[in-house]
Amino acid sequence: MAVLPIYVLGSPVLRQETTPVTTITPELLKLADDMFDTMHAAQGVGLAAPQVGRSERLAVVEVEHERHVLFNPEIVFEEGELRWEEGCLSIPEVYGDVYRAARVVVRAMGRNGKTFEIEGQELLGVCLQHEIDHLHGKLFIDHLSFLKKRKALAAWDEEKGQYPDLLRIITPGSIHDDGHDDSERL
Ligand code: NI
Repeated sequence: MAVLPIYVLGSPVLRQETTPVTTITPELLKLADDMFDTMHAAQGVGLAAPQVGRSERLAVVEVEHERHVLFNPEIVFEEGELRWEEGCLSIPEVYGDVYRAARVVVRAMGRNGKTFEIEGQELLGVCLQHEIDHLHGKLFIDHLSFLKKRKALAAWDEEKGQYPDLLRIITPGSIHDDGHDDSERL
């Protein structure tokens, strides 16, 4: 178990397409465990492999104490619309309202290699959509209107100096209250 460095906005890996996982190896299960540790340390509820510099199609989500490991997740059904204030562990301190499907059904492969489906609404639904976006090189700021995206990028300009190597090293002292709660850090 280990807390991994998080790649922040500007890192090319965040914009790359991931590679589907065909074989679940012990190394990939360890990666999933480390991703949970990293996500918890950063006080978030979801994390995708590119955020820790990896190219596998893998995301982890934990909402209401339910942990989900998702290999090759894809949305197979969606309906409705909702608005959610989102942030991202790779764009710390930047938040914006995103419109998402109100309900999604996601099909994925679990730790045991078996395919399962998970339905999500509200935070779980938003988180699933946000993490699946990550697996295709997409970030929440891409969903913002032109003006809101410009505002978010201006806010990031103020922040990014803290991450000269585009890496965010989570230490106990590095997390502070930014006025938002975990349900907005995806
Ligand atoms: Ni994110």
